[in-house]
Amino acid sequence: MEYLSFGKTGKTVSRLGFGGAAAGLRNYLHEYEPESVENIEKAVDAIKRALELGVTYFDTAPGYGSGASERIFGKALEEADPEKIFLATKAPFGSRDDTWRSFEQSLKNLKRDYVDLIQIHGDSIDIEKEEIIAKRGGMLEALKEIKAQGLAKNIGFTTEDSNDAVYRLIRSGEFDTIQICYNFIFQHPYEPSRPFGTLYEAEKAGLGIAVMRAPTSGTFQRWIQMVNPENTFDYTPALIQFVLSNPLVDVALVGMRTRERVEANVAIANDLSGRIDISAVHTRYV
Ligand SMILES: NC(=O)c1ccc[n+]([C@@H]2O[C@H](COP(=O)([O-])OP(=O)(O)OC[C@H]3O[C@@H](n4cnc5c(N)ncnc54)[C@H](OP(=O)(O)O)[C@@H]3O)[C@@H](O)[C@H]2O)c1
Repeated sequence: MEYLSFGKTGKTVSRLGFGGAAAGLRNYLHEYEPESVENIEKAVDAIKRALELGVTYFDTAPGYGSGASERIFGKALEEADPEKIFLATKAPFGSRDDTWRSFEQSLKNLKRDYVDLIQIHGDSIDIEKEEIIAKRGGMLEALKEIKAQGLAKNIGFTTEDSNDAVYRLIRSGEFDTIQICYNFIFQHPYEPSRPFGTLYEAEKAGLGIAVMRAPTSGTFQRWIQMVNPENTFDYTPALIQFVLSNPLVDVALVGMRTRERVEANVAIANDLSGRIDISAVHTRYV
């Protein structure tokens, strides 16, 4: 497993991160029941197997099934040495008091006294939201209090978007990490031929950079099925390798629910011969 220092957090983390959305959300990406005893056991087993195979970055959120995903991580990581893992959760968009309430419940779900990272769960962040986050009595105030009390070692935000609001959050100097959507289909944060994009901005600001949806949340695979229904080639390894090949990406998050997926994805991450030169992909002869 490759490890690196995760931006301003200074903590060493695995480049493959365990994404917790799939294990907690009902029918996320395909039909799935997260509350079934069998599925919970499989997800707990998957997280334990990931830990055994060297994955140290775990990402969850109270929004993944009203705490279901956090409870799974709480159970799976109960006996793990907190110093040897990087546990990240989130809080939904809300006021200072909402954020505290959500965070206190997260600690209970996760059976932890502290987490390594609390992030604003920002699906889409526009300027109006960014101003509400930063204003007095807003979310940022709570996050800074949580960090000051040592209950979260770092604060960050997650976003699907690359826009002015995201740039303002990066440049505010308040955050240690960003988690953004970036993969073969959604390349908006990284344009190496300019060069331009949110990943460059985040790197300049020294943030730890995690990216969500490394295997495209099934988008690429659905497209291939539409344009070439006969196709049987498994593109997932190449999609994960694409993200891991990006020199600005610290952690590639992949949603997993079973030990088989964990073992396959650890093998992909460990196969350094699969990395590509992304700049060469973007080469233009003009
Ligand atoms: N706004 C936000 O904060 C936000 C939004 C989205 C995601 N995230 C984070 O990023 C993580 C990753 O994103 P995601 O879970 O949405 O999407 P993803 O990682 O692109 O896709 C997850 C799905 O990919 C499939 N998969 C994984 N490894 C595979 C393999 N080797 N071969 C074939 N299929 C494989 C799994 O399907 P099966 O179920 O069939 O195993 C899984 O359900 C999330 O779990 C979450 O932690 C954050």
